[in-house]
Amino acid sequence: MENNRGQWGSNLGFLLAAIGSAVGLGNLWGFPYKMGMNGGFAFLIIYLLLVVFCGIIVVSIEMVIGRKTGKSPVLAFGELGKRYKFIGWMGVASSFIILGFYSTIGGYVIKYMVDFALNIFGSGSFKGVGGAEYFASVFQNPGISVAFHVLFMALTIGIVMGGVNKGIEKFSLFAMPALLVLLLIVMIRSVTLPGAGEGIKFMFSFSSDKFNFFQAVRAAGGQMLFSLSLGMGALITYGSYLSPKENVIKNSFIIPLADTVFALLAGFAILPAVFATGLDPKSGPSLLFETLHEVFNGMGTVGLFLGFAFYLLALFAALTSSVSLLEVACSHFIDSRLIKGKSPNRGVITIVVGAVITLFGLPVAFDALGSSGMFQPLGLIWLDFYDLLAEGIMMPSAALIMSILVGWVFKDKFMDDEIEKEGNKFIWRGFFKFCTRYVTPVLMTFVLISLVMSFFGK
Ligand code: PHE
Repeated sequence: MENNRGQWGSNLGFLLAAIGSAVGLGNLWGFPYKMGMNGGFAFLIIYLLLVVFCGIIVVSIEMVIGRKTGKSPVLAFGELGKRYKFIGWMGVASSFIILGFYSTIGGYVIKYMVDFALNIFGSGSFKGVGGAEYFASVFQNPGISVAFHVLFMALTIGIVMGGVNKGIEKFSLFAMPALLVLLLIVMIRSVTLPGAGEGIKFMFSFSSDKFNFFQAVRAAGGQMLFSLSLGMGALITYGSYLSPKENVIKNSFIIPLADTVFALLAGFAILPAVFATGLDPKSGPSLLFETLHEVFNGMGTVGLFLGFAFYLLALFAALTSSVSLLEVACSHFIDSRLIKGKSPNRGVITIVVGAVITLFGLPVAFDALGSSGMFQPLGLIWLDFYDLLAEGIMMPSAALIMSILVGWVFKDKFMDDEIEKEGNKFIWRGFFKFCTRYVTPVLMTFVLISLVMSFFGK
């Protein structure tokens, strides 16, 4: 099925690209900390249950929608019924919004990677500067924030311009194994530091006075949606380039499994080192840039190399995610031209869409994580505002609507026909049906309501 939209060269290429989309900054700065703060092992169980009852379900729904229609989200939903097009539009909007804040953080990752390299060669400026102080000098400098945000977008654009097979797939085939190797190196050093055990204890131990069941479900639910890149059409888009030969159900088990394994490995790489250095764990940008900078910088020359390795792996993780975000938006414009009988120019479309998203991300880059004194929408810093729109509202809404549509409107044949194509078996069929109808919609409704409340401190 050669066509001029593009197609994955192999199922492995598709899998690594999809796992690459899933494994990103969310795994590094979100999962380990949330696990430690929300009941440790109990959180892990709740997270895994959510992955099984919602994650795998929505992953498979998205892949089926993509492959069945062979189109990007807006046109894909349009094919299922004109009135469903808005779900695809929410996906395109989410891709702008998420990439709008993701790239500022991705930019800081590049800045730190470069800085660690400079310090290895003795020309850096780390000496005697604490993690918080150093980070402030980076993010409160609008010139640096904007320049590295633009650089990160340029790298993302460069990969997506190469196309599905020669850009995204080729990059993922290289970056994902490299990411795993680097993560293992950092992890081995981290868990063998004296005092590392405290970090593992923080991650896994359960203390009943800290544990709030609903709080844990909401943290796990938001984390799962964001981490699996769900509800915004990334897997619809990637699925639309998948050959009908490939087994959707098998893939929908592998992607969440690999994402969870990466999240746990990230925890082993990060938390033991934080505790061994005597620091307190945090989440978000402060973990990634203040705490970890202090950790690596305190380890002497080895630390500089480890720091470089860590930010390089974070860059690979961020780029394989950002390309999927940009691809959702670009594929929409590519398909829209194809449907009009025109031949799309992927290069031009990618540059234009990428440039618009770069502009869209500027408020986050200028906001300096809220310290700029800029106008704050809804009283939130710009990063959180964008995050609320996408992760808080649109992703859970879309996941909820998709499971209701498949469970109650399109019914069984919709999934069956696509999954059982070319003799593949729909394993766990009864379970899928039961989830799309009852379990997934109920859980997603809860996650949606509680996530929105969490942004306002409720
Ligand atoms: N899953 C990515 C992460 O964990 C973020 C992402 C969300 C990427 C949505 C693509 C789509 O960092």
